[in-house]
Amino acid sequence: MELNLSGMVGQSACLAEVLRVLGKVAPTDSTVLVTGESGTGKELLVRALHANSHRAGKPFVPVNCGAIPRELLESELFGHEKGAFTSAVRTRQGRFELAEGGTIFLDEIGEMDLSLQVKILRALQEKEFERVGGDKTMKADVRIVAATNRDLEVEVETGRFREDLYYRLNVIPLHLPPLRERGNDILLLASHFLGRFCRQKNRCVQTFTPEARDLILGYPWPGNVRELENFMERLSILCDQDVITPHDLPRKILDNAGVVLPPPVVEAAAAGFRWPTLADLGEKSMGLKEFLDAMEETLLVEALERAGGVKNQAAELLGIKRTTLIEKLKKRNMAGE
Ligand SMILES: Nc1ncnc2c1ncn2[C@@H]1O[C@H](COP(=O)(O)OP(=O)(O)OP(=O)(O)O)[C@@H](O)[C@H]1O
Ligand SMILES: [Mg+2]
Repeated sequence: MELNLSGMVGQSACLAEVLRVLGKVAPTDSTVLVTGESGTGKELLVRALHANSHRAGKPFVPVNCGAIPRELLESELFGHEKGAFTSAVRTRQGRFELAEGGTIFLDEIGEMDLSLQVKILRALQEKEFERVGGDKTMKADVRIVAATNRDLEVEVETGRFREDLYYRLNVIPLHLPPLRERGNDILLLASHFLGRFCRQKNRCVQTFTPEARDLILGYPWPGNVRELENFMERLSILCDQDVITPHDLPRKILDNAGVVLPPPVVEAAAAGFRWPTLADLGEKSMGLKEFLDAMEETLLVEALERAGGVKNQAAELLGIKRTTLIEKLKKRNMAGE
């Protein structure tokens, strides 16, 4: 049977192996634990798993266990009865109920409290749970898929994760290798993203010079596919030429390869500061909002680079609050970088 890859791109042997196992496990109801560094495509892989299962026509319900406050996570997952706690003004269904017949994706499961882990184990083994404050036992026909970028074996050893739940989740482990180990997939993905962003912006699809290609291939991509994707979006906005040269690449990629470039012909500092004019908007075929967004993004990136990724410091450089910075990054899908 042809696999529905939900848009996953890559031809490396290590990714092919992951997809081979995915093809086998998808049609079953087995529990799957997806591991891998941040930005390696764990969520995309789980969506592909659901799309290739007999549950594909039923809901896919992702829950980010690390993003929901601990005291709310149980009621988020299992729902609550009216009056269960002060703010529970009405009975509410949890995500397990919403996922009935489908798949629930417990993302960042390593962040979950031990007390809630027991309840997840029961939902897995007995397919039963109760709403918070409820005494009626509910049945759940839900496939559970979990992901984490922590090493759960270490978490088990240090007592932060239940051993029984770990073994129960880890029936079929799927490990997504970091992007730097996928060889030529880096370039396939770069062209894939660049093509997509250029088409979205109705501009002619950009290509790389061989030198730029080598630099991209040699960079370790600590933020993995997400970092590459964001970077390609930035190029599609900020790089005017249709051929991308090393000059267009960010400092960190050049520094990684020890490349020192002669300064570009027009040094911004030497030319002096100048407010953008309408002609600049016209030249870039951008609307005001797009232009301001792009300008904001370059400043965010520069501040983050200068602060070595420390958000407090970057926010200070920009003269904004840390929470405002994080909001701006989230909106651009850059929060994980
Ligand atoms: N093989 C791939 N082909 C195409 N796009 C991909 C691939 N892998 C990841 N992406 C894209 O990269 C981005 C990050 O992927 P995803 O959110 O699935 O990663 P993640 O491992 O869940 O990250 P995190 O641990 O930070 O939650 C998404 O926009 C996703 O669509
Ligand atoms: Mg994720």
